[in-house]
Amino acid sequence: MAQLIDGKAISMQIKNELKEEVADLKEKGICPCLAVIQVGNDPASSVYVNNKKKACAYIGIESLSYELEETISQETLLSIIDELNHNEMVHGILVQLPLPKHMEEEAIIKAISPEKDVDGFHPETVGNMCIGSKGFLPCTPAGVIQLLKRSNVDISGKECVVVGRSNIVGKPMAILLLRENGTVTIAHSKTKDLKEVTRRADILVAAVGKPKFITAEYVKEGAVVIDVGIHRKEDGKLCGDVDFDDVSKKVSAITPVPGGVGPMTIAMLMNNCVQTVR
Ligand code: GUN
Repeated sequence: MAQLIDGKAISMQIKNELKEEVADLKEKGICPCLAVIQVGNDPASSVYVNNKKKACAYIGIESLSYELEETISQETLLSIIDELNHNEMVHGILVQLPLPKHMEEEAIIKAISPEKDVDGFHPETVGNMCIGSKGFLPCTPAGVIQLLKRSNVDISGKECVVVGRSNIVGKPMAILLLRENGTVTIAHSKTKDLKEVTRRADILVAAVGKPKFITAEYVKEGAVVIDVGIHRKEDGKLCGDVDFDDVSKKVSAITPVPGGVGPMTIAMLMNNCVQTVR
């Protein structure tokens, strides 16, 4: 049976480290503050946003909550972001995605000051990540790196395959694995003979967006498998992009869903918030 990479426990360890750091900062009169903006009331987004606010409260980070009507204009949202960019009390700004269809996500992401871009989505932040400069790292990929490091999985020199090429996960994931000296392949829906590619992986990161897509046939014996997907099944339970029961029999280590990558995304967001005042 594979080693279970426990994202819940590792994220708790990180949050506790941050809690101590914030307590020290507060003694010096410094308190990080995150503005969390949600437009509309998509139920999944509401769960994520609430979890982010709860994590702030646990660590001692102040959070400001903006719950905006689905119908507000892009201009109104831009003016709120502009105000927060100039507010010295606010260190981080997070706009929960996806946004309503009448808004251009790219324009909103670009409006957030790179100094407050705790999601790590601004093109300037992405550029810094690519060239290895200091700056915020995108939360989910950074969380995956922490999961691997804190589970003593060495990345250097390993064959790493990322399935998925989104701006939020796949692309930055590949860059961060490369920064750790992995030999990285990005596979996607147009990849020929996907199984042949994924079976080369020592470390396989699944960010496909399809429930239980990665079965045992896609993995090499003894590989490490990280599941970034999250889907709600008809029975109400959650599952990932990986068929856990099938794949876990064949690999050396695997993340569960829930309790794998999900809690790490929030822990790394909290880390970025603390980084704004470090
Ligand atoms: N929607 C899904 N994941 C994320 C995330 O990491 N940040 C934001 N802002 N929205 C998301």
